[in-house]
Amino acid sequence: MSAQAFDFRAWSSAHLATVENALSTWVGQDAPADLGQAMRYAVLDGGKRLRPLLVLAAQEAVQGLPQAGLRAACSVELIHAYSLVHDDMPCMDNDVLRRGKPTVHVAYGEASALLAGDALQALAFELLTPDDGSVPDAMQAVLCRLLARAAGSEGMAGGQAIDLASVGKALDEVQLRRMHRLKTGALLQGSVLMGAACGQTDASAWQALKDYGAALGLAFQVVDDILDVVADSATLGKTAGKDAAQDKPTYVSLLGLDRSRAYAGELLDQAMAALQASRLSNTVALAALAHMVVNRSN
Ligand code: IPE
Ligand code: IPE
Ligand code: MG
Ligand code: MG
Ligand code: MG
Repeated sequence: MSAQAFDFRAWSSAHLATVENALSTWVGQDAPADLGQAMRYAVLDGGKRLRPLLVLAAQEAVQGLPQAGLRAACSVELIHAYSLVHDDMPCMDNDVLRRGKPTVHVAYGEASALLAGDALQALAFELLTPDDGSVPDAMQAVLCRLLARAAGSEGMAGGQAIDLASVGKALDEVQLRRMHRLKTGALLQGSVLMGAACGQTDASAWQALKDYGAALGLAFQVVDDILDVVADSATLGKTAGKDAAQDKPTYVSLLGLDRSRAYAGELLDQAMAALQASRLSNTVALAALAHMVVNRSN
């Protein structure tokens, strides 16, 4: 498909509707007490759904299995939603606003927020392992491994640990990049690779998508750091200015705004070069998503 013929808005609204519908069906329907409500509150009605869109764009780029793509897309969003619930808790960033609503622990209490996060994480892996024959067993195993890696101590959870241990410290660029690559980049890169794992790729296309995901994942957190400084809470749907208030090391605190913006632009160029190198024919949605990550306002 040529870039000119591609209507990103139509593509994303169709996929967002599918993802929203699937999440609503799969999340928390029969959970006891207020657990199901807390899970649904954390996941539904909000969020840009960038990670699901990355999964689906990559799955389409490799002409992968759509049923696997949809499950992978939802599973990554569940891990992301769980990470936000825990990130906002008083023991971490202590935030009261998320996706334009009171955070889960404010609405449901800390114990329910903790459990909702736990249950969302478990549900993510359940979604990846259907027993109806719709996703081949070997593919299920690869998807689980990629998601576990991206979410665990070598990925999001590890990065969050570095984040908490770095409050009040001036990290150098190497340390800051590592923190960002783990806490945010890993799940974004994982989204791309999970999409790719829904189909067949040769080693060089796989490496190119890995490089694309790494550049886009880091760019995403650089822009998150910038938006924390330049945007307002209403636009972000979360409290602006928190990083400086909590003395977190960020790209803005290290490089300043102008150089952070320039760096995000360089990372966008790297992501686009990686797509080119992939030699995959249908990367227009991945390209559009990279531009969205860097040029977004929330
Ligand atoms: C916010 O992620 C948390 C970070 C990893 C920086 P998003 O900006 O993707 O949050 P939602 O999903 O749109 O709410
Ligand atoms: C959080 O980073 C990344 C996660 C793994 C949730 P931030 O703490 O900067 O995310 P926001 O700004 O609260 O969304
Ligand atoms: Mg945080
Ligand atoms: Mg936070
Ligand atoms: Mg932030």
